[in-house]
Amino acid sequence: MKKDIVLTGITTTGTPHLGNYVGAIRPAINLSQNTNVTPFYFLADYHALIKCQEPQRVRQSSLEIAATWLALGLDTNNAIFYRQSDVPEILELTWLLTCVTSKGLMNRSHAYKAAVAENEENDADKGITMGLFSYPILMAADILLFNASKVPVGKDQLQHIEMARDIGARFNHIYGEHFTLPEAVIDEKGAILSGLDGRKMSKSYQNTIPLFEPEKKLKKLINKIKTNSLEPHEPKDTADCTLFSTFQAFANVEEIADVRQRYAVGIGWGEMKAILFEKVNAEVAPARERYEALLLQPNQIEEQLQIGAAKARAISQPFIAQLREAVGISRFSA
Ligand code: TRP
Repeated sequence: MKKDIVLTGITTTGTPHLGNYVGAIRPAINLSQNTNVTPFYFLADYHALIKCQEPQRVRQSSLEIAATWLALGLDTNNAIFYRQSDVPEILELTWLLTCVTSKGLMNRSHAYKAAVAENEENDADKGITMGLFSYPILMAADILLFNASKVPVGKDQLQHIEMARDIGARFNHIYGEHFTLPEAVIDEKGAILSGLDGRKMSKSYQNTIPLFEPEKKLKKLINKIKTNSLEPHEPKDTADCTLFSTFQAFANVEEIADVRQRYAVGIGWGEMKAILFEKVNAEVAPARERYEALLLQPNQIEEQLQIGAAKARAISQPFIAQLREAVGISRFSA
């Protein structure tokens, strides 16, 4: 039986936070243990260059993200875990795809349009690089190169998956059926965590709790989560409560029912924060130790990434040769 290929990339511009963990990393790690699928997970460092021109930050983020996934128990026997820039076929394919992608399709990209919208009318393209403009083509290459059928992403990435389908279909139409057309997988019930201020946890709101913050700092940050000003003993509503929804993302059914009951009879916010800290910390503490150890041994991380890249290239090299042939740029003789 041919296994489903599930593929997703992580842009290397930040430090993983609890929202990333609950929404994307934890489900991806769980899936890596499912031998009915072959997951491809990669550090999207070429994507990082689109939004970040600070080399030190891109490098540090790549290291932190790789260490995070490994510390959390990513099964690298089953999953192929690699750095995008270690697979040069991705860039080769990007060009082949660029040449079949209509500019009009890229003009409609939300990310590009949002950047234009922020500019004055007389210089609509101010500060917009070709990297940003053609970002969806690079992403299409990531996906199509490995014939991924399922791509787990956040809602904000839906359009890019649609574009990958359009681009793949266009190539197939011109040169023959080479690519599987991918589908986005949006985890509807997957938790979206709120941040310290109650808005969605996001680096751009600066309201995040880093996943592997040392214990003391984790406690401090959880104590900072915004609540209303109800006193202890006053009954409280679990709806729209960041403390409760975060707890829900870490607790089992009975624990949730129990805390819900305590809200009804008026749990104090201080007490709830202590409960939440214990719950989150219990889940992340073992991985945090492995994470800190791994950061001190970048060679070990690199070794894993090189194994992943070799596995990826065993697929991408013959495939790109086939594609070169298809478009007419292969050698005259073997
Ligand atoms: N652009 C994606 C994001 O910002 C990351 C990404 C890059 C990706 N290439 C991908 C996701 C391919 C899925 C498939 O979240």
